[in-house]
Formats: sequence, C-alpha cells, structure tokens
Amino acid sequence: MSEKIAVIGAGLIGRAWAIVFARAGFTVAIWDAVPQALHACRQQLRDNVADLADHGLLSETVDAVLARITPAASLADAVAGAVLVQENVKETVEVKREIFREMDRLAAPDTILTSSTSWIPTSEFSQHLAGRDRILVAHPVNPPYLVPLVELAPAPWTSTATVERARDIYTRAGQSPVLLKKEITGFLLNRIQGAVLNEALNLFENGYASSEDLDKVLKDGLGLRWSFMGPFETIDLNAPEGVLDYASRYGHTYRDVATTQLPNAWNSATLAAIARERRDVLDAGKLGERARWRDNRLMGLVAHKKKQTGQA
Ligand SMILES: NC(=O)c1ccc[n+]([C@@H]2O[C@H](COP(=O)([O-])OP(=O)(O)OC[C@H]3O[C@@H](n4cnc5c(N)ncnc54)[C@H](O)[C@@H]3O)[C@@H](O)[C@H]2O)c1
Repeated sequence: MSEKIAVIGAGLIGRAWAIVFARAGFTVAIWDAVPQALHACRQQLRDNVADLADHGLLSETVDAVLARITPAASLADAVAGAVLVQENVKETVEVKREIFREMDRLAAPDTILTSSTSWIPTSEFSQHLAGRDRILVAHPVNPPYLVPLVELAPAPWTSTATVERARDIYTRAGQSPVLLKKEITGFLLNRIQGAVLNEALNLFENGYASSEDLDKVLKDGLGLRWSFMGPFETIDLNAPEGVLDYASRYGHTYRDVATTQLPNAWNSATLAAIARERRDVLDAGKLGERARWRDNRLMGLVAHKKKQTGQA
C-alpha cells in the first residue's frame, strides 16, 4: 500500500502540495477547518491537474492522480497513519502554534510534521511541544508542482533522522530539497528574493530606470541563466579559470558596489509610482488572466527542462 501524506489547509499551497504527492504515487488526505474550502478544492484540483496533463507533465490520467486525494472528516482522521503531515494554514505565529499543538497531540510519534510557512522559523511554533524533534519547516515555492525547490529549515532540536526522512520523502515526491543549516527569518529563497527586490527598489527610487526596464534585466538577462544554474556556477563559468579567476577580475568592483547598496524602506510613494507604471502596462482587471499566462509559461519551461534533462 502506498504511503499516506496529510495536507492540512486546502488553500492555494495545500492544494498544490496535494497534487505534488498524489502525482508521485502517495495517498493524500486533505483537511481544512473551513468546510467550504474543502468542498471547493475538488474542482480546483481537477483544473490544475488537467493543466499539467495538457502540457504533457503527467505520466497517467487526471482521474488516476485525483483518485489518490481524499478529503478528511477531521484533523485526527487526516493525520492518522500519515508518514508526513504538511501544514498550510494561515501565516501567523499564533495560528501555527495552535495547529502544531493539535497535530503533535494527534499524530503518531513517528509521523513527521512540516510547515509550509514562508517566514516563521520552526523554533517559534515547536519549542514547547513533546514531539518537537519531529517538526520542521518545509517551505515550497508557488506552485510546488511546477517549481520543485523545497527549503528544509529545522529547529536546533529537530532530529537528524527526521530531516533525513523528510529529505527522502520530498525527493521521492519529485521535489528538490535544500537544507538550511541554522535558522534565519525568510530562509534562503526569500532572503535572496528580498536582496534583488531591495536593490531594484533602490534603483527605481533613485531614478536610474523604469520598473519595466528593471523587470527586463531579470527576464531578458539574468533570469535566462538562473532557470538552470545559480550565481556560483554562473561565476565559475564566466572567467576562464573559474570562481577565483572571476573574483580576482571583478571582486573589487562588486565589493565597491556593495558599499553603495543600501537598505530600502519600501515607502508608499515609491510603491505607488511602481504600481502606476504597472497599471499602465497591465489593467488591474487583467491580473488574474496574466497569472494564468504566467503559469502556462512556467509549465512550458518545466516541460522544456524535463525534455532536456529527463527531470524538471
Ligand atoms: N501563497 C504563496 O505563494 C506561498 C508560498 C510558499 C508558502 N506559503 C505558505 O503556505 C501557507 C498557506 O498559504 P496559502 O497561500 O495557501 O493561504 P490560503 O489563504 O490560500 O489558504 C489557507 C487555508 O488554510 C485554512 N485554514 C486557516 N486556518 C486554519 C486552521 N487553523 N486549520 C485548518 N485550516 C485552516 C483556510 O480555510 C484556507 O483554506 C502559509 O503559511 C504561507 O506562508 C505560501
């Protein structure tokens, strides 16, 4: 019998995790505190899985994947017999503390409990729990069935065995786990995304370029490479002798530039100016349509990467 995963919270990310695990052959029980959310998720799951099939990203039928996802009647039913519980509820410390207290009480001792939280370190919601050694953050990127990265961010008291079991489960689910060796707010991805946003905001605020041109720097420049290699591999290949050669040629310039890269206050006047420029190119009523366009582009890219490497 296939292993069971419990998905807690049937919103955007919970539904996406259900697809990840079901697509990989796990049995999924999904539960939400709001019955309407659980009810609505069936059709939303069908639409998303059908999109994957349309892009050649499923190796079986839509119905075969959906048949592995079952709504649970209660939190207790959802977590019963699960190898791993993936929590995806509201992003506040209080709500995370409460749901983890309940999950720790209800789940068998060897069940791994993970949170999709984008910002909250594991230690802030697991410290006083009896089973705190089996709890960790597993932060996805939206939507995880297209973007495989998952950040494993354990607390100091999370056991090594838990982290290794979680890593194995996410890998078998088709994801690409990375490990945060010690806790920091925002983990890795949002800190790096924050650094890029911060600098783009500064360049815009100080009049160096329009928001459209700053977006082009990524989509027509850095982003093309970054979809298949990171900044360290990039510099290793951008000088004939590799990283140290690159650093000896350009390191001093980056060091000088770094001294001028200041924090940005995210002030409302700057953000309003960016919003005006964005609304000139995209009407607010078309944001949803454009988000679907983005997901389709992403599916096309994932399909391309799969064809090139045999994996996404
Ligand atoms: N949206 C993103 O891009 C993104 C990316 C990575 C991680 N995350 C994280 O995933 C988590 C969920 O975010 P989302 O975007 O799916 O939110 P969402 O609002 O779409 O869904 C949250 C769901 O949780 C349910 N819920 C709320 N409190 C609950 C409780 N106590 N018990 C059970 N269900 C409860 C709600 O009914 C809702 O269906 C958050 O921690 C968020 O930080 C979000």
